[in-house]
Amino acid sequence: MTQMETQPHIDSSRIAEITRGLDRSEIEGREKVFSVTDLAVSYSGKVALQDVSLDVHRNTITAFIGPSGCGKSTFIRCFNRMNDLIPGAEVEGRVLYHGDDLYARDVDPVEIRRRIGMVFQKPNPFPKSIYDNIAFGPRVLGIKGSMDDRVEQALRQAALWDEVKSRLKDNALGLSGGQQQRLCIARALAVEPDVILMDEPASALDPISTTRIEDLMHDLKRDYTIVIVTHNMQQAARVADMTAFFSVLVDEEGAARRGVLVEYDATTKIFTTPSDKRTEDYVTGRFG
Ligand SMILES: Nc1ncnc2c1ncn2[C@@H]1O[C@H](COP(=O)(O)OP(=O)(O)OP(=O)(O)O)[C@@H](O)[C@H]1O
Ligand SMILES: [Mg+2]
Repeated sequence: MTQMETQPHIDSSRIAEITRGLDRSEIEGREKVFSVTDLAVSYSGKVALQDVSLDVHRNTITAFIGPSGCGKSTFIRCFNRMNDLIPGAEVEGRVLYHGDDLYARDVDPVEIRRRIGMVFQKPNPFPKSIYDNIAFGPRVLGIKGSMDDRVEQALRQAALWDEVKSRLKDNALGLSGGQQQRLCIARALAVEPDVILMDEPASALDPISTTRIEDLMHDLKRDYTIVIVTHNMQQAARVADMTAFFSVLVDEEGAARRGVLVEYDATTKIFTTPSDKRTEDYVTGRFG
């Protein structure tokens, strides 16, 4: 899905007012949660993304931006081995998670997906009560302690508690889209993850819900490491500490298209003084 046509470009003189991103030196001083080297992903032998190397640091928000088809979703799925579930998908290169190979044979992908949770574009609550949505993961994992406390805490962390505390037994599908998305974030938080991956978490939401999700991400980075894909450049500028810009390389015959990482830097740099012309064209709205 692409929203470039309808999206006003970012006025770089205003970036200092809207960004809440940290300085690059401060970001790089934080522990590396992921370290990606020479990553390539193909589907049924056809390369979709190649030559990606970057680090993701703890308690920061990292955004992936770029035109439709450049491999953002493909890439974010590499961080919790979701591509394992896609027939024909093959991941090459190296992804270290806290220094250990995420793709090593002895790594349990189910345990990885508990520690590295994911929130999708379209909210996907289970057709169960609000309470049972949150309690589901902890029950499956046999996590001990008071379930009521855990449910309340997750809903509070996701800034949803006050809106739902009197209706915890109601079906989650009766919530608004923005509430459902916060419920899915609460559900991800309930199993005490380390990282939360979000693939366009606000693109189906109205501006007020979007602002709530952005504020929530900003609060959550105190305790979690967040990686987000977004089409909304204002959103990347508002929430992300680091931003990676991906583009599509087309070969001479125009036959093969593959995603590449063009530039990865502090968000302020990407939006004000990018090093690559392609990044500049994209963030100023001349391309897309
Ligand atoms: N499950 C899949 N099977 C086969 N090819 C896929 C699959 N998922 C993605 N691709 C291909 O990989 C390339 C990158 O797709 P991807 O969905 O990662 O891009 P994206 O940047 O997330 O795009 P969008 O902004 O539209 O969501 C595309 O050429 C796409 O057709
Ligand atoms: Mg996508």
